[in-house]
Amino acid sequence: MSWTRDSLIAAARDAADKAYAPYSGFHVGAALGFADGSVITGANVENASYGLTLCAETVAVGKALSEQWRGKLEGVAVIGGKAGAVGAGNPVTPCGRCRQMLGEMAALGDSDPTVWCIGESEVLELALSALLPHSFGPEALA
Ligand code: THU
Repeated sequence: MSWTRDSLIAAARDAADKAYAPYSGFHVGAALGFADGSVITGANVENASYGLTLCAETVAVGKALSEQWRGKLEGVAVIGGKAGAVGAGNPVTPCGRCRQMLGEMAALGDSDPTVWCIGESEVLELALSALLPHSFGPEALA
């Protein structure tokens, strides 16, 4: 069975419920949708040494790559908010580091995934290439 925009958003929302975010209280979930229908999710993981925090998108990409996943990334959903109010605020857009991490995953499958950033009354739908123009990728090292 394949994913849809809405099922990817639902997967990201479920992932946000598993966030470890005791310091910010801001729970983020990300879902990666691949061409073969697979979905891999991640949630943010904070640390008492604040700067070590891992964002949801980075965790999702780390999970995918460390499971030898090399599929074609076609869609990404990101949602976040205070515990109990995930998705209630403005759309959550991937931070700069996460854009780069998503870019690496996309480069492996030679894709330009659609990124859905979910907010309460607004969903931003953007190509990753629009979020990360003139990106640095593996081809630069070839
Ligand atoms: N966060 C993410 O998980 N993804 C983003 O793209 C932006 C921020 C997390 C990091 C931190 O745990 C919390 O949101 C507040 O910054």
